[in-house]
Amino acid sequence: MNKNGKISEANKYSPSGVGGNIDSYTHVRGESVYLDDIPVVNGTLFASAFDSPVAHGKIKLLDTTEAEAMPGVIRIFTAYDIPGENQIGGIIPDEELLANTHVHFCGMPIALVVAETDEAARAAIKKIKVEIELLTIITDPREAKEKGELIIPPRTFQIGDITTAWSQCKYIFEGRTETNGQEHLYIETQGAYAVPQENGVIRIYSSTQGPTAVQRTAARVLAIPMNQIEVDTTRLGGGFGGKEDQATTWGVMCALACYHLKKPVKYSLHRMEDMRMTGKRHPYSSDFKIGLNKDLKILAYEAVFYQNAGAAADLSPAVMERTLFHCTNSYFIPNVKATAYCCRTNLPPNTAFRGFGGPQGMFVIEAAIAKAAEQLNIPAYEIQQKNLLQTGDEFPYGQKAESEANECWSKTNQLYGIKKLQQNVDDFNSKNKLYKKGMALMPICFGISFTKTLMNQARALVHVYTDGSVGISTGAVEMGQGVNTKMLQVAAKIFSIDPVNIKVTTTNTYRIANTSPTAASAAADLNGRATEIACNAVLQRLKQVAADELKVEVSKIEIKEETVFANGSKTEWDWKKLVMATYSKRISLSELAHYTPEDIHFNLNKEKGHPFVYHVYGTAISIVTIDCIRGIYEVDSVKVVHDFGKSMNTMIDLGQCEGGIVQGIGWMTMEELLYNKEGKLMTSALSTYKVPDIYSVPKEITIHFLKTQKNNSAIFGSKAVGEPPLMYGIGAYFALHNAVKAFNTTAGLKYDAPMTPEKVLMGLYSPAKKNELLNAEGIKVI
Ligand code: MTE
Ligand code: MOS
Repeated sequence: MNKNGKISEANKYSPSGVGGNIDSYTHVRGESVYLDDIPVVNGTLFASAFDSPVAHGKIKLLDTTEAEAMPGVIRIFTAYDIPGENQIGGIIPDEELLANTHVHFCGMPIALVVAETDEAARAAIKKIKVEIELLTIITDPREAKEKGELIIPPRTFQIGDITTAWSQCKYIFEGRTETNGQEHLYIETQGAYAVPQENGVIRIYSSTQGPTAVQRTAARVLAIPMNQIEVDTTRLGGGFGGKEDQATTWGVMCALACYHLKKPVKYSLHRMEDMRMTGKRHPYSSDFKIGLNKDLKILAYEAVFYQNAGAAADLSPAVMERTLFHCTNSYFIPNVKATAYCCRTNLPPNTAFRGFGGPQGMFVIEAAIAKAAEQLNIPAYEIQQKNLLQTGDEFPYGQKAESEANECWSKTNQLYGIKKLQQNVDDFNSKNKLYKKGMALMPICFGISFTKTLMNQARALVHVYTDGSVGISTGAVEMGQGVNTKMLQVAAKIFSIDPVNIKVTTTNTYRIANTSPTAASAAADLNGRATEIACNAVLQRLKQVAADELKVEVSKIEIKEETVFANGSKTEWDWKKLVMATYSKRISLSELAHYTPEDIHFNLNKEKGHPFVYHVYGTAISIVTIDCIRGIYEVDSVKVVHDFGKSMNTMIDLGQCEGGIVQGIGWMTMEELLYNKEGKLMTSALSTYKVPDIYSVPKEITIHFLKTQKNNSAIFGSKAVGEPPLMYGIGAYFALHNAVKAFNTTAGLKYDAPMTPEKVLMGLYSPAKKNELLNAEGIKVI
């Protein structure tokens, strides 16, 4: 706020005038409410789960007697205490809340201790004894596939005729890739708080992206109707997909204890519990074969994806589907065959993570192009550029592209100069022996919509109160991505009122029912469009009242900045007066609206259809510098041209891009999940799992906001931005490869992400290079 008490334009969407997000003010003051900030009711009990120490086995004995005798312990729940179904599987019913006879992964909950304090619950956990007869443990997805451990049958997307296409190719290259998983590391760990209400109703405060999923699953496990369960979510301290399905476990556990004890029960996970017990981004192992003609057009592409799903389906089938949808990234390839296997292993069930399988698919085509480029001794961008999608090109799943790929690419070139940047990198490399730079381009193309068509629906409830203030409820969950601010902007724009008079309330299943999770980057679009419809409905009634009062046609009434205009001129009527007049006439000032996009469909038998309302495009240039003595590196810059449609909140959207890029770079370069052969997570703490910190973010991130004109059904034409930028991070991986190759032309690097400093170092000094250096003057290799 400036000294006149006016909110400046840039800060318009914050009541306090401090930023582009309405939450900024309370965030920086520590006043924002997360699960742990909800004041606990007197008599609240605390829960903690006892989880399996082994990855696969048969439970022979579970002895809780000593634990039950511990001070403060109220009760210990097991599978036998579940009144309904012991089942939390969302897509496929294959996951127990509490292990009954078998455990399938390290960290699988077996019992739930409820005690007077958090400390007492955790102390009692240590006294539980379990004997488990070990069964075969599988951690590798290829092994799982060999043994027939598939969660769903394999799926194949095809276009053209792959078998005849190979004969037309001048160059054919094959290879294998690995991408590792990724820990979500939301700042707020998983958690829930269940509070009993009258008549058996249970209110669950849950740190979830999917309040309805928590409600539905709690009802199933407790065998009570959904209307007995109220789920309420104020905001999350990050979700990133990790709380789309996996927040359910803790919400349902608290509800189970609350159901039996008739007392409030809270469970807020410790960081190491969270890292150990929850699933992550899916690791993939993949094979590719790519064929090009003499002009570097990709004629044929074949890929086989082995998805490491973990021990239960969770969201894996849907994630796998998106891998197939995005297997050709931003390129048109006339002949494609892509097959994916959803492989059951004994790891915690892997789950949604920003990009939802898309990044894993895109990595493989980028590796295929990188390999072709390496073999042909040309920069990969020459191949990338020649194969960018054009409008009208068909994706392997049948949808025709409304492409912005060339626009993004050429703008990138125009702004930053691809050849010039490459020349700078080459010059640097020829002048420097012990530091090398590498550069890579990363075009992206990401489909917006839930690929399960029915999930593309949302509702919004808009109330105008008699003092003119407005309340909005939608199914969208705020998790830092700014969706509440966007909802508020929608109402502010349609009503043309000051944003400070609008309040977005918590996401609550009693206000908005049957919500889809806040996911697929689609929350702002779906809930925003529903809000738009609701606001317009109320606005129409208000205008009618004004028209009647002012004796003009309703089409001649406008509301601008809280003032009523008739026939283009200002009237005596303002927003508040009009609201009160409408109320006095007993006309509703509230609306519940429903939105679902038209024209989306997908035929699972044919694997063809039109699953996405639109795609988001973009291009990034990443440049890195490696230290060839130590193997450490820095990302110098990530220069982006991103297709925003027409951004409705540039500050939030910029934040989404920057955050996504850093998270993507983390996945591709430093975050390394390690499970041992016994299926135990070795990197279960922040001392062993490295995420990007302020020192490892790129020295420069430049985002050019490309306004694109094509029709999209995004809210106000402002395209979804939550996930797509993460995929720019893949560029850093290939830039590192190129830097290593600048030092060691015989590095023989594998396509094995993340590209950690260790792998860089190994690449720099692979055997051939070691010998070469030994013979060279001045450098002694030990
Ligand atoms: N941004 C922040 N700050 N925190 C998050 O948890 N989740 C991401 C993205 N951006 C996330 C985020 C993921 S995985 C998705 S799907 C989208 O936000 C969901 O929100 P949207 O649909 O409103 O874009
Ligand atoms: Mo995001 S992975 O769709 O929650």
